[in-house]
Amino acid sequence: MSGDLFDKFGPLLTAFEGLVGNRTSPFGLRVDRVLSPTEAVIGGRDTILAGTFNYLGLTYDPECVRAAQESVARDGTGTTGSRIANGNYAIHSEVEAAMARFLGRRAAMLFTTGYQANLGILSTLVGPEDHVLLDADCHASIYDGLKMGTATVIRFRHNDVTDLDRRLERLAGDRGHKLIVVEGIYSMLGDRAPLKELVQVKREYGGYLLVDEAHSLGVLGERGRGLVEELGVLADADFIVGTFSKSLGGAGGFCVSDLPELDLVRYSSRPYIFTASPSPATIASTRQALRILSAGRELRARLRENFERLHAGLTALGYTLGASPSPVIAVVLGDRGEALQFWSRLLQRGVYVNLMLPPATPNGVSLIRCSVSAAHTLEQIDAVCAAFADLRAAAGSVAAKRGAAT
Ligand SMILES: Cc1ncc(COP(=O)(O)O)c(C=O)c1O
Repeated sequence: MSGDLFDKFGPLLTAFEGLVGNRTSPFGLRVDRVLSPTEAVIGGRDTILAGTFNYLGLTYDPECVRAAQESVARDGTGTTGSRIANGNYAIHSEVEAAMARFLGRRAAMLFTTGYQANLGILSTLVGPEDHVLLDADCHASIYDGLKMGTATVIRFRHNDVTDLDRRLERLAGDRGHKLIVVEGIYSMLGDRAPLKELVQVKREYGGYLLVDEAHSLGVLGERGRGLVEELGVLADADFIVGTFSKSLGGAGGFCVSDLPELDLVRYSSRPYIFTASPSPATIASTRQALRILSAGRELRARLRENFERLHAGLTALGYTLGASPSPVIAVVLGDRGEALQFWSRLLQRGVYVNLMLPPATPNGVSLIRCSVSAAHTLEQIDAVCAAFADLRAAAGSVAAKRGAAT
């Protein structure tokens, strides 16, 4: 074998250097100090955090912090074991039960991360005789879970129910199970799944529906139970997957179902078995966050007010946005270079957002992705808009100069 083990990374390195050069790299950016759910010091500068998925701003909630602190003092820093061995503490089972109750289901499983929840469920639930009908824009964790498993995967065009229908029709006569997999709010563009129509198709052909509500739990629905609740199809989702790392401000993942057989997955799911359970402190704060989330609508109402304000502000500035208002607001830019420059300039103006580039994005688009929190003040939302306005003005004057020169 000739060459170095790392030779294969050559093209990636060349592309990275060509794109980033000697600018601040957005990949692996270091946050010096976090000050609150919406502020941090980055590169020595006070910065508004507008790209963190901290939808309800609960990371510094005094009750959640206290629950975690008390748990560390009582239970120690980690479990040092899997849930099927010594790592199943009372608090893990309690959160599992609370999650099942909250979503009105009989069974729940808790995983160490949201990523592992998708790996653990999708690698195990469906077998070699089965077909998974997958929305093309689904998250990497869903793709990876299916890669670990044995089912045949058929992708349908993003949010295209007719395409799904057509693909299911072609499977008529096939005796294996069919599992449709979608997300509530999609993480890249912030758009929503047409769940009502998807449920109709599921009913017509039979099979199961799994919805990943990572970005909609605590965000949508009368009681914060996600897009399934908002669209009145909670009971039609056979499996709901989600994460504790966004609206709940912790870390961990879950799957709930009304099918009590979900429990069987525990005995064969490698991402559940062969990893340590989440730290008890993280789960204790998650338990408290779930209480807050389910207690009232105030945080959700504030979140909505904030994301509608940012969406309206950016629309008025003439930006092309990925979807109608949601807590994920994606600004579509021309290409990778323009998006990177935009990202750096926002950071220089004290605004942190996410830079999302192909191949991670749908249809090869380059995006600046903002995520809004209930903890943002109206002044912070306006400051984010003002930074975008500055960049718009700067781009306009460059274009005007170019026009005058031709
Ligand atoms: C749709 C979706 N599912 C799962 C995950 C993984 O969650 P976690 O980061 O908590 O592992 C994410 C993360 O962004 C996501 O967007």
